[in-house]
Amino acid sequence: MKALITAGGRGTRLRPITHTRNKHLIPIANKPILHYALEYVAEAGIREAGIIVNADSDEVQRALGDGSRWGLRLRYIPQEAPLGLAHCIKISREFLGDEPFVFYLGDNMVVGGIRRFVEEFRSRGSNCHLTLSRVRDPERFGVPEIRGDRIVSVEEKPAAPKSGYAVAGIYLYDRTVFEAVDAIRPSARGELEISDVHQWLLEHGRRVTFTEMTGWWKDTGLPDDLLEANRLILDHMPARENAGASVEGNSTLVGRVILEPGARVVNSNIRGPVIIGERTVVEDSYIGPFTAIHHDCLIRRSEVEFSIVLANCRIEEIGIRIEGSLLGFDARLLQARGKPKTHRFILGDQGTVEIA
Ligand code: DAU
Repeated sequence: MKALITAGGRGTRLRPITHTRNKHLIPIANKPILHYALEYVAEAGIREAGIIVNADSDEVQRALGDGSRWGLRLRYIPQEAPLGLAHCIKISREFLGDEPFVFYLGDNMVVGGIRRFVEEFRSRGSNCHLTLSRVRDPERFGVPEIRGDRIVSVEEKPAAPKSGYAVAGIYLYDRTVFEAVDAIRPSARGELEISDVHQWLLEHGRRVTFTEMTGWWKDTGLPDDLLEANRLILDHMPARENAGASVEGNSTLVGRVILEPGARVVNSNIRGPVIIGERTVVEDSYIGPFTAIHHDCLIRRSEVEFSIVLANCRIEEIGIRIEGSLLGFDARLLQARGKPKTHRFILGDQGTVEIA
């Protein structure tokens, strides 16, 4: 069995962070989203994976290398434009050959990995095995219509969803999927839709089965999804020894607090689950639950909770607690000096600031 993992597309819903960075490389709990996909695939016993990448960038290749870190052999498959998920399968025909494969959307995260889905696909002898998750907003996803224990139709982002489920971005196929991919036509938004592939397979009597996910699953399409995924990962993260980090002065660490090598906590109160990255300094501050602070940041005389702070950020002397926030690489939040006392912003395109 092989894996096909997506890392292309434009990530427009995550701007401004994705102006400078492929969305699949944004860290969740200090680890790029795509690393989770590679770990899950390797853990399922798969050794060869194709990665769909934007043809005009080698950012993903530089970040992942040849995959040997995960015990995988990676093949990069460039996509000229984001023409749809079925298009990703189409251009991977030669790499996939006639082997069954797991198609994994690289921006999806799932607790417990994917091995159980692979096993179910195999044991049920399906042509296509889908994973379903109950969601509050099915209109954002591919939505199945279910009768008894069978899926009878699938629609992409329907205005009137026929169930409360999303088809999650972990799909298993045998080679019959290529017939469907070749038969469907682009949708109104110009993409070869994966839901149309599923609908075609159903209409043509192929065996389409599914697993309902019981744990959490997250598609990290929107900023709030990143915060939620970060919360869930931190919540499940096992405790580690904080080797090479230092806790100094009058500091308290409560709950699961992971300090990466070179991190320094000085006169601060950290309430886990929290991860603090390499060489980051937290001084005279409070860091609250579900916060990930990436490497080489400085947090001084400030309070941060339920947030993601990416590498090289500086937060200094902010008088009000920062919460539910996502700070991109190299961002600065500083106390304004001088008179009159004003707020001063240098905000990138599509940035958001909410002031109390
Ligand atoms: O996350 C599950 C949902 O994923 C499903 O419920 C939907 O049926 C499915 O269409 C998809 O919807 P999204 O709107 O979330 O797809 P998105 O455009 O965000 O792309 C998903 C992943 O595939 C992401 O890793 C970007 C990548 N991608 C996307 C397209 C359209 C590519 O690499 N190439 C592409 O052409």
